[in-house]
Amino acid sequence: MSDIKKIKDEFLDKLSKDLNIENVNQIKSELFGKNGQISNAFKNLGSFPPEERKKFASDLNFIKDELQEKINKKIQEIEIKEINSKLDNEKVDVTLPERNIIRGKIHPVSQVIDEISSIFSEVGFSVEEGPDVENEHYNFTALNTPDNHPARDMHDTFYLDDEKKLLLRTHTSPVQVRTMLKGKPPFKIIAPGRTYRSDSDQTHAPMFHQVEGLHIDKNINMGHLKGCLSYFIKSFFEVDKIKMRFRPSHFPFTEPSAEVDIGYELKDGKIEIGEGDKWLEILGCGMVHPNVLKNVKVNPDKYQGYAFGIGIDRLAMLKYGINDLRAFFETDYRWLNHFGFDPLDVPSNYRGLSR
Ligand code: PHE
Repeated sequence: MSDIKKIKDEFLDKLSKDLNIENVNQIKSELFGKNGQISNAFKNLGSFPPEERKKFASDLNFIKDELQEKINKKIQEIEIKEINSKLDNEKVDVTLPERNIIRGKIHPVSQVIDEISSIFSEVGFSVEEGPDVENEHYNFTALNTPDNHPARDMHDTFYLDDEKKLLLRTHTSPVQVRTMLKGKPPFKIIAPGRTYRSDSDQTHAPMFHQVEGLHIDKNINMGHLKGCLSYFIKSFFEVDKIKMRFRPSHFPFTEPSAEVDIGYELKDGKIEIGEGDKWLEILGCGMVHPNVLKNVKVNPDKYQGYAFGIGIDRLAMLKYGINDLRAFFETDYRWLNHFGFDPLDVPSNYRGLSR
C-alpha cells in the first residue's frame, strides 16, 4: 500500500506543475502505459495473499481513478489556456485597410434585361421564360408560319436534326404560344431570352437576345400597343419625349404588322435618342393574328391583343454607347470591366425587380 501511496503522491506532485500536453501524455504513459507504474501494480496483484488482495485492489483502483481524474482536469486546463492565448493574440484589427478585392461586373445584357423587366412590371406585365431548344411547331407552325413559308428561311434557322423538327429558337415568339397554351386569357407577359440565327457581322451575332411582349384581353387595340411602347422607350432611355414611327411590315403571326423606328441624332459622335431626324429600327410588332389565337385555343372573336419583339442587345448598345455587338459575347474581361455594371451601383431608373 505504501508503494502505491508513494506513486500517487509523486504523480500528483508532477501534475501540479506547469505542464504542456506532451508532458501530460508522458505522465499518462508512465502511469498507465504497458510498463506504467499503475499497470505494473495491477499485474502484481497476484503476488498478494488472498486476504490482502481485495483491499489492495480496491485501494489501487481508487488511486488509479484519482490520478486519471487529475490528468483529465490537467488536459482541460491546458486546452482552455491555449484557447485564451489564441483569443488574446489573434484579435481582428478592424482599423487595417481593406485588401484590394476584385468585384465582378454585371454584363450589359443582364443589366438591360433587368431594367426592361422592371419597367414592364410597373405596368402589370409578368416575366415568362421558354427553352432555347424549341421544336418547329412552337417556333413556326403555331405562329401561323406554315411549311415552306419564306420566313423559315429568312430566319437562317439553326436546325438540330435532319427532319428539321428541333431547332434553336429564332425568336422569343414561341413563348407567346407556350404561355397561352398553359393558361387562360387575359395574358400580359414579357419573355426575355436568347435567340439564334446564322448571321454574324458588326451588328449581328449568331446568338442574340430579344424580349417578347404579349398582351391579350377583351378590346385591346393598336392604340394600347402604341401607348405601351412609347411608355417603355421613354422609361428605358430616360427621356420625356421621343419620336416613334410605325412602318407597315409583315410577320405571319401578326396582322396588321409594323416595325418601329425611333428618332435620334448624332451629337459629337454620340447617339441621342428622341431628337433629330434620323431613324433607327428597334422592334417588330403587331396585332396577334387570329390564327395564332385559334392555335392556342383562345377565341379570337372574344379576345385580341398585341405582341412585340425587341432586340435587347441593340437597346444595350444604344443606351450605353457600345458599337460592336460581337464584343458582347467574346468574354473579354477588360471589355466587361469597362462596360459592365457594378452590382452595388443602382441606376437612376432602376425600380427593383418583380421577378
Ligand atoms: N418575332 C419577330 C422577330 O423576331 C418580332 C415580332 C414579335 C414581331 C412579335 C411581331 C410580334 O423578328
